[in-house]
Amino acid sequence: MLLENPVDWKIVQIQLPASKKNQIISPYQQIVSAIDKFLRDHGGAELMEDLRSDIPRRWERHGDLVMIDACFQNPFWRQYGDDIWRLISEVLSCDRLAQKGSIASNGYRTPSVRLLLGQDGWVEHVDNGIRYTYDVTKCMFSAGNVTEKLRVSRFHCENETVVDLYAGIGYFTLPYLVHARADRLHACEWNPDAVEALRKNLRLNGVEDRCVVHFGDNRQLCPKDVADRVNLGLIPSSEPGWETACAALKRCSGGILHIHGNVETGKTTPKSCNNCDESENVKCLNNRTENEIDSMKVSERNLTNSADTCSSNSSKCSDLSAKTQPNSTKEIWGDWSLGVSSKIRVILERLHTPHIWQTKVLHIEHVKSYAPHIDHLVVDIECRPVPG
Ligand SMILES: C[S@@+](CC[C@H](N)C(=O)[O-])C[C@H]1O[C@@H](n2cnc3c(N)ncnc32)[C@H](O)[C@@H]1O
Repeated sequence: MLLENPVDWKIVQIQLPASKKNQIISPYQQIVSAIDKFLRDHGGAELMEDLRSDIPRRWERHGDLVMIDACFQNPFWRQYGDDIWRLISEVLSCDRLAQKGSIASNGYRTPSVRLLLGQDGWVEHVDNGIRYTYDVTKCMFSAGNVTEKLRVSRFHCENETVVDLYAGIGYFTLPYLVHARADRLHACEWNPDAVEALRKNLRLNGVEDRCVVHFGDNRQLCPKDVADRVNLGLIPSSEPGWETACAALKRCSGGILHIHGNVETGKTTPKSCNNCDESENVKCLNNRTENEIDSMKVSERNLTNSADTCSSNSSKCSDLSAKTQPNSTKEIWGDWSLGVSSKIRVILERLHTPHIWQTKVLHIEHVKSYAPHIDHLVVDIECRPVPG
């Protein structure tokens, strides 16, 4: 419609209400603002980009202690001594502060942790109804394995004897005892600091009477012929413990192995296999379609036949994965699991000659993405002696 007397108009700036998302100040932004103010109050140094990028973006909470990632590397911060740590602990509402370095590959997987604020590194926290205490400067707590801990908690281990070959402070030992109700558990651990925490955790949760702690190298002191189930929670590979785990299984009835490992899912360069002929490779690969590998995880399908096909020719087929390029992540997981299953069967038959054993992949669990193209998996392998 045309107006007879055009109205005077002008554009004014409109202040739109801020979205809820924009109103939320992240803890990181709170730390940045607090440090910015702190610097202005202490002589006016400016929070330049190099200092800003030296401020922690990630941290873990362990009870009243917060562990920040490696940061504050710039010598600039030293002039403020503990004041800067007090400021961070105020913003993050904690009493103690520690800083994480890398985890040592010294067999104990000791974390290099520095206590910044507080007297000691012992913390206590509750995880899935279980109380854990440990010294963060001496033992690692695998927060990333939470899905596997929950899965273990849902197992039914009444009347079962379980062996935990790499018990640590009890990340899996405790769920087996508290939630899965294992009748008896043998926990092996060679790090004295982890063993101290493990014993405390067993007492804290009132399950010490069902657990025997074996302090030392599991390859030397793990009991034999006792287990219905063995947990092998060591990455990148638990292979050094496979023979010990097989020997721990009950000779007459076998049991289940839960084998952890890091699996590379990046593309590999196909290379030729010297041992197999082409027809065998095709036969082995054809036994594992994408759907079959899906069903290993989803419906725990029995894969005995495909595993057998490869393991009965194990010397010939061991190079299969190198020869034929797998085309999906799940296929790589399946190849890895079947490879582990075949090797376990070979170990069992060597340990118990002349008896025949059967191994079967029950389930593949993706625990976490460990690094780009590296997955932390657990494969459940059922191992049974063949009667007769
Ligand atoms: C990565 S931690 C795993 C802890 C726990 N299972 C988890 O996944 O969260 C591995 C533990 O195994 C212990 N360990 C490694 N090799 C061992 C061996 N041969 N005998 C006994 N303990 C061992 C280390 O000291 C460490 O506490």
